[in-house]
Amino acid sequence: MPIDVSADGRVFLLSTKSMSYACCLEDSGLVAHLHWGPRLPSVEELAVPIRWDLSPNDPVAQLTPEEYPCHGGFRYKQQCLAAELADGTRELDMRYRRHEVRGDVLVIHLADPIAGLGVGMYYRVSEDLDLIARWTVVRNEGSESVELTAVASAMFHVDRRELAVSNVHGIWGAEQQPFRQPVGYGKVVLESRRGISSHHHNPYAVLDSGATETDGEVFFAALEYGGNFKVVAEPSPYGSTSVSLGINDYDFSWPLAPGETFEAPRVVAGYSGTGLATMSHQLHRYARRLMRDDRSRPVLYNSWEATGFNVTESNQRELARLAAPLGAELFVVDDGWFGNRASQLDGLGDWCVNPGKFPDGLTPLIDEVKALGMAFGMWIEPEMVNPPTRLYAEHPDWIHHTPGRDTQTSRDQWVLNLALPQVQEFIFTMIDDLLRNNDISYLKWDANRPIAQVGADPSVWHRHMLGVYAVVDRVTAAHPGVLIEACASGGGRIDLGTLAHFDDFWTSDNTDALDRLTIQRGYSLIYPAKAMRAWVTDSPNFLTGRAVPLPFRFHVAMTGSLGIGMDLRKTSDSDLATATAMIETYRRIRPIIAEGDLYRLVGGLDQEYWAVLYVHGASAALFVFRPVARIGRRPLHVRLRGLDPEATYRYRIDASTFEHTGTYLMNHGIEFSFYGDFASQLVEFSS
Ligand code: GLA
Repeated sequence: MPIDVSADGRVFLLSTKSMSYACCLEDSGLVAHLHWGPRLPSVEELAVPIRWDLSPNDPVAQLTPEEYPCHGGFRYKQQCLAAELADGTRELDMRYRRHEVRGDVLVIHLADPIAGLGVGMYYRVSEDLDLIARWTVVRNEGSESVELTAVASAMFHVDRRELAVSNVHGIWGAEQQPFRQPVGYGKVVLESRRGISSHHHNPYAVLDSGATETDGEVFFAALEYGGNFKVVAEPSPYGSTSVSLGINDYDFSWPLAPGETFEAPRVVAGYSGTGLATMSHQLHRYARRLMRDDRSRPVLYNSWEATGFNVTESNQRELARLAAPLGAELFVVDDGWFGNRASQLDGLGDWCVNPGKFPDGLTPLIDEVKALGMAFGMWIEPEMVNPPTRLYAEHPDWIHHTPGRDTQTSRDQWVLNLALPQVQEFIFTMIDDLLRNNDISYLKWDANRPIAQVGADPSVWHRHMLGVYAVVDRVTAAHPGVLIEACASGGGRIDLGTLAHFDDFWTSDNTDALDRLTIQRGYSLIYPAKAMRAWVTDSPNFLTGRAVPLPFRFHVAMTGSLGIGMDLRKTSDSDLATATAMIETYRRIRPIIAEGDLYRLVGGLDQEYWAVLYVHGASAALFVFRPVARIGRRPLHVRLRGLDPEATYRYRIDASTFEHTGTYLMNHGIEFSFYGDFASQLVEFSS
């Protein structure tokens, strides 16, 4: 049974393949954590703890590891819900009211009759994915309006103090840099206040006490939300650690009229007793199922690094003619095709084809791209407007702004307020027209600056996010065949909330293959390779000036969703031939990368070698990299994982063919001896 309730109705046990999660109704009327960890056989073995005040300064409400603590009473710890009631008071006292089991969902209802608020804590059990999802619905059951000032999605507890929290840090061009730090004393707060999930941290928490890729316990939770988020890990002086996730309560409030509800975004959570790789496999499977469109993602050519803002019909035709014979399946025209877009100064908002650049519209180019055998895609940045545009002249009140203040630009642009229905309508109509009038099957939806100066209403941050989701969902409902890539100056919008609506992530504007090894490793902890756009671009790289051989650049990009961003007009014939062969190989192994289980065998900034393995059914693909030969030039001996021990795998390395059992490859492994810097190898296995 995935959901078990004890005979007395006070203990709730949720079980997946290998995890159990339990909470209970305590004598205090509070619903509290009981277990999160390996699977338990029976709910009846779990007893409701008896608690009493440890001292006048350590009262029961503070001691109890509540599933959803609210502001009020003797609570000094991190809380999930806070509200300002009609009389100005903020005291809440949420106690158990009832519970119900609806299929694979348990709902525990809490209520505070004096405040007139009800809380529904939802738990969905996905036995096969080995995960649970939690979300929360707050209802105004009173007769007066209430202002919600904090609504986290969920709080989780781990029964121990000595934990480390892992996440990523970063900036533009250096997203997804993994870090792990002790929870220690006080709180660890990871958040975004930028209106997007951001380049800086990511909306998830991973807690462990010494786990490796293959060993140790890992507790993890990831939020399905791409706006302002807050993750708080807090050690309790009473021996456990809590972690809460949800919409950031910074500059947040939400009015709730009588009868209205507020639904906080979903959190997906799990437990691995076998290290980080298992966590990633579970989350990747979940994410792939979350994705709207299960088609394989096309190998694309994108013109951004080749032509910048200076796109013209003729230079795009030229690039398309060079991209098609390489094996590209999709040609994407990036920024610069619309309005008065000669640079970042102008054009955003005026989404008509620039007649100087495309005198006969987009159709001639699209026809040629299609005749070359590729699909056609376009870049848009629909949430933004440049000051000189007609859109701004006609609708100056559509931007996020604070009356009486100068509205500051960033990248010379303002953000449209997608909380406004008329803005949503404008954007939907613009995209709908674009897609109706042109044979477009891919959009790259960019957002090149954070939100700021939102004016008087703090609910706007969240309303903007809901507006984005509403427009994207409307577009994909009207044009189900179109794939939409989420980009925010590179990887500023990588999160499960985005993945529930968009189809691809642009991982980073940093396309340097060496830097990408760390960015992509950080990304891979939580997010699936299928959605990780990775381009091969020119060498030396525009951002880092680093020169990297073409096979290495390809191998790094082939570990995700392959794209080409080189200026093919300048590419040598021999590099074009290498690219053609690499793309052919990628198209053959794409299902293994996109749908397989990823094993991070070796890697990290301190390592000489990096190796990642993808296993999908009877096939596997191993990538080995050595960026810089260190003194001593040691070989890499690497053991594979995740293979069928009984199966015999065939593979080639250079000119030699091998046959070995899965057991041999996993227990003994393969030795790689490379010569020179930026050496790399792809080995394909089939059984
Ligand atoms: C952002 C994106 C780039 C490119 C430019 C266009 O920086 O991340 O890939 O699309 O915008 O202006």
